[in-house]
Order: sequence, then C-alpha cells, then structure tokens
Amino acid sequence: MVADNTITGKNVLIAGGAKNLGGLISRDLAAQGARAVAVHYNSEATRSAAEETASAVSAAGAAVHLLQADLTSAAAVSKLFDDAKEAIGPIDIAINTTGMVIKKPLREITEEDYDKIFAVNAKTALFFIQQAGEKLSDRGKIVTLVTSLLSAFTGLYSIYAGSKAPVEHFTRAASKEFGERGISVTAVAPGPMETPFFYGQETKDSAEYNQNAADLSKFTATGLTDPKDIVPLVRFLVSDGWWITGQTILANGGYTTR
Ligand SMILES: NC(=O)c1ccc[n+]([C@@H]2O[C@H](COP(=O)([O-])OP(=O)(O)OC[C@H]3O[C@@H](n4cnc5c(N)ncnc54)[C@H](OP(=O)(O)O)[C@@H]3O)[C@@H](O)[C@H]2O)c1
Repeated sequence: MVADNTITGKNVLIAGGAKNLGGLISRDLAAQGARAVAVHYNSEATRSAAEETASAVSAAGAAVHLLQADLTSAAAVSKLFDDAKEAIGPIDIAINTTGMVIKKPLREITEEDYDKIFAVNAKTALFFIQQAGEKLSDRGKIVTLVTSLLSAFTGLYSIYAGSKAPVEHFTRAASKEFGERGISVTAVAPGPMETPFFYGQETKDSAEYNQNAADLSKFTATGLTDPKDIVPLVRFLVSDGWWITGQTILANGGYTTR
C-alpha cells in the first residue's frame, strides 16, 4: 500500500487543543496544511482561548470547529469523535493533550484526588485511544501526551505520574491492535513545560530546581521545556514519523532518562 503520511489535506481532532501545548499543535497542523481541525476544550474559562485558536487555525487556511466537553466518561469521548466527524468529516489524526496534575505527599492523597486524576489522565486517555482506533480513517495517527516523570525517581508526583503511566501500555496494546489498519499510536512525554499547568503546583524553589535540571536548560528562555519544542515532535509522529508506533517518546532536554 502506498504510504500517505502527509498532513496536507488531513482532518485533525485535538482534545485540549485550545491553549498551551494543545493550542500550539492546533495552529501548527493548520499551518502544515491540514484540511480541518476540530479543537476541543473543556472549561468555560478556556472558551476565549479556544476562540483565539479557532481564528488562528482559520487564518492558516484550515476549516475549524470548536467542541466543548468534559471527557471523563466513555460516552463523552465517543460523542466527541462523532461530533468531530459530523462537523469536519472522517478524522485522520487524533491527538489527546488532556491532563491534570496533583503534587502532594503520598500520605495526603485522598480517594477523591485519586478518582479525579485517574478519570482524566488514564480513563479519558484509554477511551480516546479506543474511539480513535474505531473511528479514525485507515492510516490514521494517534498521539497522547504523558510526562517525562514516567522515568523520574522523584517524590510528590505519585498520582500524577502514576495516572499517566497506564497510557504507555494502552499505547503499546493499541499499536498492536490497530496496526492492521495502518494506524500508528504513540505517546509523547515532555519535561516540565513552561505553562500554567506546571507553575500551579510548584513553589519558587521547586520551580527553580526544574528550571536548571535539564542538560540543555540554559539554552531555553526559562530553563523548562518550551512547548514550542514539543510541537515538531508531535508533527513528525503524525506524519513522516509514522513508522514509530507503540512507543513513548521522551522530549525533555536531558531531564530524565530510562
Ligand atoms: N506543563 C507541564 O509541565 C507538562 C509536562 C509534561 C507533560 N504535560 C502534559 O501535557 C499536556 C498539556 O499540558 P499543558 O501544560 O499544555 O496544560 P493545559 O493546557 O492545562 O492542558 C491540560 C488540558 O486538559 C484539559 N482537561 C482537563 N480536565 C479535563 C476534562 N475533565 N475533560 C476534558 N479536558 C480536560 C484542559 O482543559 P480545561 O483547562 O479547559 O479544563 C486543558 O486543555 C497534559 O496532558 C499534561 O499532563 C505537561
């Protein structure tokens, strides 16, 4: 079968595609020639960022459709794919950037913390991959955002890293199961990134530690992973990098290893 791994003319669905890393990916894939981008957002507070992203996607020449949903139920994820397909046509590329973070000592973690974070980081991720496997076009591409903490020996991030960890296995299994339709499935694991998601959990000292922890820290604006440096990796994985499947790729300037 002839490979078709371009972004040109493709329809893209991006969960959490309104702002920060997801917003940059929405803009980038539009600029790379995607035909249409379905941009998902969750909270009302994100609506204006979603509208800004929609304008940028449109200015780059792609059709755009905004979708609002809390994705912590399987039904909501299924509806997201159905609504996106109805709005922009068959989906070729599905990217899930949704996530939440809780940083606290293991002894202080409550059952509510556990249920909340696993609902987004593990449950949404599983059903997103499942629905993508069922509803994406042949030769489709699926990417999930995880974290470089998966390979860190550190405290305080037990339920954040722990709730992202299952995605590695979902990704491997999905690459096996969807491979016969030519679908490539990967996970991308950035280091601590320059977004409010990171700063919300950190003290001045812990932020400073992370700003100096990567081998390449002093060559970025803040020392953290710049989300702009994650975008080309995602772009590659959903196009010419299709041969990489079932893998979790760390991109962190030399912050953690395996
Ligand atoms: N920033 C970092 O230090 C860092 C490092 C490594 C990996 N990551 C991962 O990278 C991804 C993007 O993070 P980011 O830094 O760009 O921050 P972000 O914009 O806050 O990304 C998180 C996204 O998840 C969405 N979300 C949260 N709960 C949801 C729910 N119940 N249903 C649907 N969507 C929901 C948020 O939407 P609303 O805000 O509208 O609720 C938001 O768009 C995340 O998966 C994160 O775990 C981040």
